[in-house]
Amino acid sequence: MYGLICTHSLLHLLKMASGQLSRAEALACTGCRHACHVMLYSDTKSQLFRHIPIRHIILMQMRFDGWLGFPGGLVNLSEESLEEGLSRELLEEIGAAVPISVENHVESCYGPSSSSSSDLILHFYAKKLEEEQILDIERSAVSTAVDHGHEVLGMVRVPLYQMKDGGGLSSFLCHSFIKNARLQLVDGLLRFGLISAEELHTALGLSVETHK
Ligand code: GTP
Ligand code: MN
Ligand code: MN
Ligand code: MN
Ligand code: MN
Ligand code: MN
Repeated sequence: MYGLICTHSLLHLLKMASGQLSRAEALACTGCRHACHVMLYSDTKSQLFRHIPIRHIILMQMRFDGWLGFPGGLVNLSEESLEEGLSRELLEEIGAAVPISVENHVESCYGPSSSSSSDLILHFYAKKLEEEQILDIERSAVSTAVDHGHEVLGMVRVPLYQMKDGGGLSSFLCHSFIKNARLQLVDGLLRFGLISAEELHTALGLSVETHK
C-alpha cells in the first residue's frame, strides 16, 4: 500500500515537472517537429555473477554524440504516422522490425526550449518483448542496422541492481542523457513496475551524491 502511494505521487511529480501534453494535443501542433523514441524491455531470469538478479533487460543506446538515449528519431507526419515513423527509425537503428502501435504510447512533451525555429515535441513509447526478441535485437543492432557505427555507437542495457560500492543503477544515472531521456527512463521504470519506488529513490539519491 505504502509503495503504491509512493509510486503514484512520484509519477505525479514527474508529470508536473516535464511539461506534458496528450498525444492529440501534440498532433494538433502542425508547425512542430515530432520525434518518437521507445523503451524496449523484457523480463529475464538471468543473474549477474550467478547471484544478482538482473530482473529486466531494458535497451538504450550510446548515440553518435556521446549521449545516452532510446532508439527512435524524427518522424515526418506528411508521410507517416508517429508509430510508422518510429517503426522505420527502429529498422534503421536496431535493424529489426518491431511493430509499434498507439497502445505503446506513454507520454508526449515539448522538448527543452532551444534556439531552433520550430518547436520539437518528444513522444515516448514503451513495449515489452520476450527475452528472446530482445536478444535478437541486440544481435541485429550490430549485424544489420544501417545506422550501426554511424548514428548509433551501440546498444546498452540499463542495470537495475544497486551495488554496495555505488555501482549499478545509481552510477548508470550519472551518465549524460540526451534531452529528457533520463526522465523518460525513470518514469518508465516506475510506470511499468520494473523497480520499486524505494529502490529508485535510493538510486537517484546516490547518483546525486556521486555527481557532486
Ligand atoms: P537523423 O536521422 O540523423 O535525423 O536522427 P534521428 O531521426 O534518429 O533523430 P534523433 O533520434 O536524434 O532524435 C531527434 C531529436 O530527439 C533530437 O533533437 C534529440 O535531441 C531528441 N532525442 C534523441 N533521442 C532521445 C531520447 O531518447 N529521448 C528524448 N526525450 N529525446 C531524444
Ligand atoms: Mn568478468
Ligand atoms: Mn535515426
Ligand atoms: Mn535516433
Ligand atoms: Mn531519422
Ligand atoms: Mn538517420
